[in-house]
Amino acid sequence: MLCMQNFTYYTPTKVVFGKETVTQLPALLREFGARKVLIHYGQGSVVRSGLLARVRSLLDEAGLAHAELGGVVPNPRLSLVYEGIALAKREGVDLILAVGGGSVIDSAKAIGYGVVNEGDVWDFYAHTREAKGCLPVAAVLTLSATGSEMSNSSVLTKEDGWLKRGYNADWCRPKFAILDPTYTETLPAYQTACGCTDILMHTLERYFAKDGSMALTDAIAEGLLRTVMANARVLQQDPKNYDARAEIMWAGSLSHNGLTGCGSDGGDWVCHRMEHEMGGLWDVAHGAGLAAIWGSWARFTYRENLDRFYRFATQVMGIAPNPASRAAVALEGIEALEHFFREIGMPTSFHDLNLAPTDEELSLLAKKYALAVGGAAGSAVKIGETEARAIYRMAL
Ligand code: NZQ
Ligand code: ZN
Repeated sequence: MLCMQNFTYYTPTKVVFGKETVTQLPALLREFGARKVLIHYGQGSVVRSGLLARVRSLLDEAGLAHAELGGVVPNPRLSLVYEGIALAKREGVDLILAVGGGSVIDSAKAIGYGVVNEGDVWDFYAHTREAKGCLPVAAVLTLSATGSEMSNSSVLTKEDGWLKRGYNADWCRPKFAILDPTYTETLPAYQTACGCTDILMHTLERYFAKDGSMALTDAIAEGLLRTVMANARVLQQDPKNYDARAEIMWAGSLSHNGLTGCGSDGGDWVCHRMEHEMGGLWDVAHGAGLAAIWGSWARFTYRENLDRFYRFATQVMGIAPNPASRAAVALEGIEALEHFFREIGMPTSFHDLNLAPTDEELSLLAKKYALAVGGAAGSAVKIGETEARAIYRMAL
């Protein structure tokens, strides 16, 4: 039964959007009371683009003290977070400024938790206790994808056992986010496509809920999905198209700040949970991993959620309505999204990811997934270990 669910919508992040908005950085840092900042970044894209030097000089000119920690890798690691916690404590920083993509922002959030809370920060990601606060985090975003610049999530990988786990709590929502779409122009086409896929998936995970619906939320979600697909196609031909970069960047933030889930039952999230196990084991790019399994998950579940899949096919993927053959239309919608993924260079199987998991590896993935979700997850169809193994196998 679809009916509107109660919800809380909380998005405290101040978004400053557009060209050259980085010049507002010193004023924003002052507004949020920062006196000493830890600049956190990845493996060098912000060095090569000149953004890191720009941020440093803006802070220097404004007389704002700063320390630095680079080296965040995609699927960010716990060991660097430990290093960051020790550094932030030693330097007495009061805000962590992430300059980069989702991995950098997530690593900054984890450091923020570790500075404020006693004990091992991994406990929060292992869900054995709750955080009681987080050092303020802010972001200068360089990759439209995760929505971490406004979200309450962070995802971390523990090298011991290669466990990739997420922790959600409002403490870590960034104080402000500087979103200048021009910074995303240096992304390789593959990363742009991974980002677009992740943005689509954050809304799709919420959209394919069994219970809960709002006409307005559906309209926003469907508009966002169509906008991202249209502009992903533009960027394939014209990677420096500012307007397309801007549409996608804003969609990325709105897709994971809760807006496209208002009134739903919270969403499905099985693809994300299944992908996190793949990211933990093989270090695949998050968006690519999602594209590789989405079609298999959709085929496994669509009959139990036919209304939504039919609506998706007709309202988002442009399939002609045919109430007499709803299942066939739903399937066409699934195929159309897989076709789109291939069009932008995304994988739709393990094979496309250049992976050939053995039976043992598929079982291990399913086992780790079930452990992470506490047995089973999903909205219309509960996916436990057995079902997850079947879906992973379908994605070979
Ligand atoms: O490390 P550098 O040198 O900066 O290179 C990065 C990295 O290699 C590069 N890059 C970023 N901006 C660039 C650029 N290269 C050229 N030009 C630029 N402007 O892109 C590569 C990928 O970066 P990463 O930050 O890893 O990508 P993304 O933003 O997709 O983040 C992925 C991580 O976020 C998690 C994922 O699981 C994964 O660990 N997620 C976080 C979420 C959240 N916090 O809300 C939700 C998501 O569902 C997701 O799980
Ligand atoms: Zn995601």
